[in-house]
This record gives sequence, C-alpha cells and structure tokens, in this order.
Amino acid sequence: AKGGKILILPGDHIGPEVVTEALKILDIIEEATGAKFERDFDLCGGASLDKHKDSVTEAVLKKSEEADAVFFGSAGGPEWGHSQPNPESGLLRIRKRLQVFANLRPCNFASKALIHRSPIKPEIITGVDFTIIRENCGGAYYGEKTEEKDYGCDPWEYSRPEIERVARVAGALAMQRDPPLPVWSVDKANVLASPRVWRRITHEVFGKEFPEVEIRDQLADSLAMLLITKPTAFNGLIVTDNTFGDILSDESGGLTGSLGLLPSASLAGAPAAEGGDSPVLGRNNAGGVVGLYEPVHGSAPDISGKGLANPVAQVLSLAMMLRYSFNMHREAEVVERAIAKVLDSKDDGGLEVRTGDLGGTAGTREMSEAIQGEVRRLLKAG
Ligand code: NAD
Ligand code: IPM
Ligand code: MN
Repeated sequence: AKGGKILILPGDHIGPEVVTEALKILDIIEEATGAKFERDFDLCGGASLDKHKDSVTEAVLKKSEEADAVFFGSAGGPEWGHSQPNPESGLLRIRKRLQVFANLRPCNFASKALIHRSPIKPEIITGVDFTIIRENCGGAYYGEKTEEKDYGCDPWEYSRPEIERVARVAGALAMQRDPPLPVWSVDKANVLASPRVWRRITHEVFGKEFPEVEIRDQLADSLAMLLITKPTAFNGLIVTDNTFGDILSDESGGLTGSLGLLPSASLAGAPAAEGGDSPVLGRNNAGGVVGLYEPVHGSAPDISGKGLANPVAQVLSLAMMLRYSFNMHREAEVVERAIAKVLDSKDDGGLEVRTGDLGGTAGTREMSEAIQGEVRRLLKAG
C-alpha cells in the first residue's frame, strides 16, 4: 500500500497557516487513492524556542530520522530577533541531521497567468523552466563559526565527497530526460578557493559518470544578471553551493513576481525516475528518498495572522513530497495541474482565484479551496 510516515513541522507565522491548507490536499489524495499517511506534528523554530528554549529538540531530530519525509512550514520572526540560538538554526540542524544535501528549487511558468504577473516582459519569461540544485549541508552555512563582539567568521569549505554527491544528483536528474537536460555548475572559481575545487570535481564526476550530459560553468554573479535578462538560456539544471543557491532561488521569486509560488525539496539522494529503480543513497521505508519539503519563502511576519498568505508554494512542496518520498508521480502531477488551472485567467479556461501577492483579493483559505476542488475533479476524472 502507498503512503508512509510524515513528520509535520509547521513552524512560525504563516508556516502553520499554509501547512494546514496543504494537508487538506493530502486528505483528499488519501481518500481518493487509499494511500495512508501517518502524521506526527511537532515544533521547530520560534515555536520550539518558546516551549523548549531550543530551536529544535533532540526528540524532534530523532523523529525526523524515523519519518519517511518531513513537511516543514517556515521558521523565524522579529519576536525572536535576539534569541540564541535563533529560530532558523532549527531548520539548519534538521537539514544536517537528515543529510538532505540536495535542495531542489524549481522555477517554471506552467500557468499563462504567471507569465503576465511576472515583472519581466512576457517575451523574456515565456518558457522559463529551470531547477536550482542547491548544496544544502555544507559551505559557509556549516563551517566552524566564530562570533565575537568585533569579529565574525564563517569558513566556506567544501571537500570532495560533498561535491561528488550533489554533482551525482544533478547528473542523475539530467539523465532522467531524453535528451539529457543541460547542467550549469555555478561558482565563483575566479576568486574563491572552495569554488575552484567545486568546479574541478564537478567536471570530473560528469566526465566519468555522465559523459552524455552537457555541463557548463557560469560565475554566480553574472548568472544573477543573466537570470533576469535571458532566463530561458538556463533551462535545465543549475547546480551550486549553499549560499549562492539560497540567493539565486529567491531571485526565482523575483522572476515569478512572488515567493508564494516556489516550492523546494531537500533530498538525501537522487530520486528515482517515474517507473525507475528506487534510489540507492538516502532511501526511506516508503521506497522513495528521504526528504524535507518546504517553500522557498520564509515566515512572512508582515502578513501573518490575517489569512492572506499564498498557500501555493506549500502545496507545491507537498506535490514534490508525493513524487520524491512516496513515488506518487501521478498524484503530484494532479496537484501541479490543479494549481495551474486555479492560477490561469478565465480567458485561458482557468478559475482566476488569486491571493494578494498575485494581485488578487482571495485569502489563503479561498485559494486553497479552489485548489482542493480542482484536485478532486482531476482525481475523479482519472
Ligand atoms: P519572507 O520570504 O518571509 O518574505 C519576503 C516577502 O515575501 C514578504 O513581503 C512576504 O510577505 C512575502 N511572502 C513570502 N511568502 C509569501 C506567501 N506565501 N504569500 C504571500 N506573500 C509571501 O522573507 P523575510 O521577510 O526576509 O523573512 C522572514 C523570516 O522568515 C525571517 O526570520 C527569515 O529568517 C525566515 N525565513 C525562513 C525560511 C524557512 O523557514 N524556510 C526561509 C526564508 C526565510
Ligand atoms: C531558505 C531560508 C533558510 C536558508 C534560512 C531560514 C535558514 O532562507 O530556506 O532559503 O538560508 O537556507
Ligand atoms: Mn532563502
């Protein structure tokens, strides 16, 4: 039987608001398919700090290891501005504990409505379809830190195994398409040492293990510019380090016009292709890959508590969880198609229900209900 064990960590501010709505979609999928998902709810971030004086407890870290997937909302907010540790560290500790080293952050324009919402001209944005694969367990985020009154240091380090494993995920994902997707390796090898090692080892891995895949180098700063002026030139995969990947994936939010649309999946190995073999590295008990699923956006304290947040990024993260951790490819696609239908304008056969970040007047619940209705309809239609 399909399904498995999910640890749900809604987190802070809009986190719980959008997680609640996403789980309603999971209810519908359970009902329609007979899949069973065991759900355990716990705390992370500011919510955990308030109760346990720590951003995540050892008990929650253990539970995250026992789950087939972790479904995460968002952590942080101004009320924990001076706390030590800070709320965000809870999320970083879970990523590290689960060794979910490959953070997939797709950016595509499946819905015509999004093309018109983008601040970029339609002729430039039409057809954009890239996925950032952000290294998620190393680099400046995890080096031995020093923080003193007048001095701070975050060593930015990468060693061979960390680079090889993320390069292999990029290669495996590229090979899941025919012809293989092109891959951009993004670094600052012109200035920094660890990016030079990154570039050399990435080329070694592709040369030996994925000779059919076209691998190209791009400096991170110029990529930031080109993603605005020529975004379709990067259709395919962009594999990059933790810090560059963080920044460039928020830039995807700039392309779409809202962060409320962008999901992410942090994986402990390369996921299987639809109908393909199960993953070797990072396999969970559900036959998928161990994963942590969360939107690219944060806790949006500026709009929380008002029912205004766009639930799409969280719901798309749920779709990624179904696909990668539970091998439910068809259901993932249904969710994605339902969202495209809701976002599309009435002229294009859509429903045109949109939250404020997309220029509409719908609230979180209204948007979620429209998606739920469409998911039900698509599941029934078979
Ligand atoms: P943010 O992503 O929370 O918000 C940036 C802007 O986008 C805000 O104007 C916000 O209202 C808007 N926005 C974000 N998500 C939205 C949604 N679903 N619907 C509509 N509008 C949305 O970034 P920030 O304000 O810089 O950070 C707020 C807090 O979140 C900080 O504490 C930060 O560290 C934390 N954060 C957490 C995560 C995470 O838990 N994964 C990710 C990023 C930031
Ligand atoms: C993200 C966030 C996190 C990061 C923070 C909240 C730790 O910005 O997921 O993009 O920097 O990785
Ligand atoms: Mn970020």
